[in-house]
Amino acid sequence: MPTVQITTRTDSWWRAPAATAAGLLVFFGYLTFRAFNGTYVWFDPYVSPTVAPPVFTPASGYPGAVPLGHAWFGAFPAWWPKFLPQSPAFFMPALAIAFRLTCYYYRGAYYKAFFMTPPNCAVRGISGGYRGEKALLIFQNLHRYTLYGALVLLVFLWSEVFAAFFRAGRFGIGVGTVVMLVNAGLLSSYTFGCHSWRHLIGGRMDCFSCDGAESRRYGIWRASSWLNERHMVCAWLSLGWVAFTDLYIYLVSTGTLRDLSTW
Ligand code: FES
Repeated sequence: MPTVQITTRTDSWWRAPAATAAGLLVFFGYLTFRAFNGTYVWFDPYVSPTVAPPVFTPASGYPGAVPLGHAWFGAFPAWWPKFLPQSPAFFMPALAIAFRLTCYYYRGAYYKAFFMTPPNCAVRGISGGYRGEKALLIFQNLHRYTLYGALVLLVFLWSEVFAAFFRAGRFGIGVGTVVMLVNAGLLSSYTFGCHSWRHLIGGRMDCFSCDGAESRRYGIWRASSWLNERHMVCAWLSLGWVAFTDLYIYLVSTGTLRDLSTW
């Protein structure tokens, strides 16, 4: 049987796509399980980013769930289908999933890792070629709109960080506060390095000084460009830290770990 020669490269070109595939499976697998499991996502005043901001929360049967008073509209309504878990992740966090799924960096990463189109530079792909942004995958073109959802989500994530400085109305700080703060910072660096954001704030312009506001706009664009050049790093760091933040809150919520704090 003839073998298909996909490259003459002799180095370990497969390592990067294999590591990417493993990383995506581990992190997205973990986060998906945790998000829709809905238990141990709260330790006063910390809330896991997998369910934040919580629109509804389960009234009972979910240990470590977000308290009713912290959810926007209280308990899940009676019409919520019985076969679905009562997880707040069905609402606002879905915006983050849409944003990541359509991200230009992630597209390239999961095409190379899972669909091998192409698997690496100078390595021939195994399918008929790159099919992104077409047919069923045309939804990827919605990335510029998912950016708006991500920006809204960021506002709420930062408000959860602010709330994490107060327990029972008393100001303080705990390790969980710092973990949530870093999480919001990394997610901001990922969002503000987005190609669509960079285009939105300055990419459409031929001249930065023609509108009389060159310094501010140009400054923001340059900051975004700096983050944009590091978008891959920001994508992985923020993804990993979201998982770490959830894990930390899970551990303190279950009593496995003690949260050091000033309270
Ligand atoms: S290009 Fe990656 S978030 Fe927009």
